[in-house]
Amino acid sequence: MAGEQRCCRVTCTAPVNIAVVKYWGKRDSKLILPINSSLSVTLNQDQLKTTTTAAISRDFKEDRLWLNGEEADITHPRLQNCLREMRRLARKRRSESEGDMAPLNLTYKLHIASVNNFPTAAGLASSAAGYACLVYTLARLYGADGDLSEVARQGSGSACRSLSGGFVQWLMGERPDGKDSVAQQVMPETHWPQLRALILVVSAEKKPMGSTAGMQTSVDTSPLLKHRAEAVVPERMAQMVRFIQQRDFEGFGQLTMQDSNQFHATCLDTFPPIFYLTDVSRCIIALAHRFNAHHGATKVAYTFDAGPNAVIFTLEDTVDEFVEVVKRSFPPESNGDQFLQGLPVGPAVLSEELQSAVVLEPVPGAIRYILHTQPGPGPQLLHDPGLHLLGPDGLPRRSAAGEPR
Ligand code: DP6
Repeated sequence: MAGEQRCCRVTCTAPVNIAVVKYWGKRDSKLILPINSSLSVTLNQDQLKTTTTAAISRDFKEDRLWLNGEEADITHPRLQNCLREMRRLARKRRSESEGDMAPLNLTYKLHIASVNNFPTAAGLASSAAGYACLVYTLARLYGADGDLSEVARQGSGSACRSLSGGFVQWLMGERPDGKDSVAQQVMPETHWPQLRALILVVSAEKKPMGSTAGMQTSVDTSPLLKHRAEAVVPERMAQMVRFIQQRDFEGFGQLTMQDSNQFHATCLDTFPPIFYLTDVSRCIIALAHRFNAHHGATKVAYTFDAGPNAVIFTLEDTVDEFVEVVKRSFPPESNGDQFLQGLPVGPAVLSEELQSAVVLEPVPGAIRYILHTQPGPGPQLLHDPGLHLLGPDGLPRRSAAGEPR
């Protein structure tokens, strides 16, 4: 075949994570060192994942990148930091193992292709899965080891938490070189099999301010953020670890909601203020509190990142009823059959009492769809060569129109 080149390809997948103790603010924006530790739940890749293929060949003329099928700018500084760090780790590994490694030349150029199985526009933390996947895939390609979370962190802070499954803490560390600012698994995904996440994708009018810019303004102007980092988060980290270890949903849920609320309070305390929550987000918050009040217990817990979408944590036995409540409160307008995605949801009959106490004035069309998922594992290496996103020539396997080449 004309133009066919010999290349070595590796393909991996990585998950999205949702913080229950939020990271907001950097003390070093070059190395991406946070002002507080954070803790997240890794979501299952059956519903949300990034897939990345990295290929290396002596025939490639330059490093190239394709994101969701479109060629993208590989000179982005954060991307370059990750490439440089991964090549450094690979060199280190090579010199330590004295030549018993695969003869991959680290000066060869790279081709990288990455796709999400969810719309990037849905605002579902795609950069965390993306950078985690990039770093993990390059580590497999180069046979590099060492703490990968330290490298993924330099792509996007929250990405370091997507390198492990289950429940993951990112310890802020103290050192100026960031060597101790790493992510660690607290508990594997198998630890709490009843835990579920419902992502309520809200119909957003406009793209909110990105987290990188938003958190910098908060660091510069919000006294509440400083107080949060110094006086609130350390205690919350310890509590959250305990609640997870004990599978205490009451404690886990309450703290998750309180931490989300405090993060959004620091956004309001930022000057000029940042508003990520919309009227619909606030309706979801009120709905969750009415639902919990009706049950006299914390049955559902919301959390919001830098956008209006809600992630609701709950337990398996509450999913059907709560989804029915959401459907009644935000009736789907056009996509009735697409409204529920991900894991199956069963039917539920709402008692009249619940209906009148919890479902108030319905807001049709305010939620685009609900994605039902659960905690899941960390990045995976794919062994099937049919799944590479790049062909043997190192170019994307599908044309922009999505047709196989
Ligand atoms: C609100 O990791 O996207 O989702 O480090 O600048 O890339 P950068 O920011 P990013 O911030 C995530 C903020 C958050 C909270 C969290 O995930 O902990």
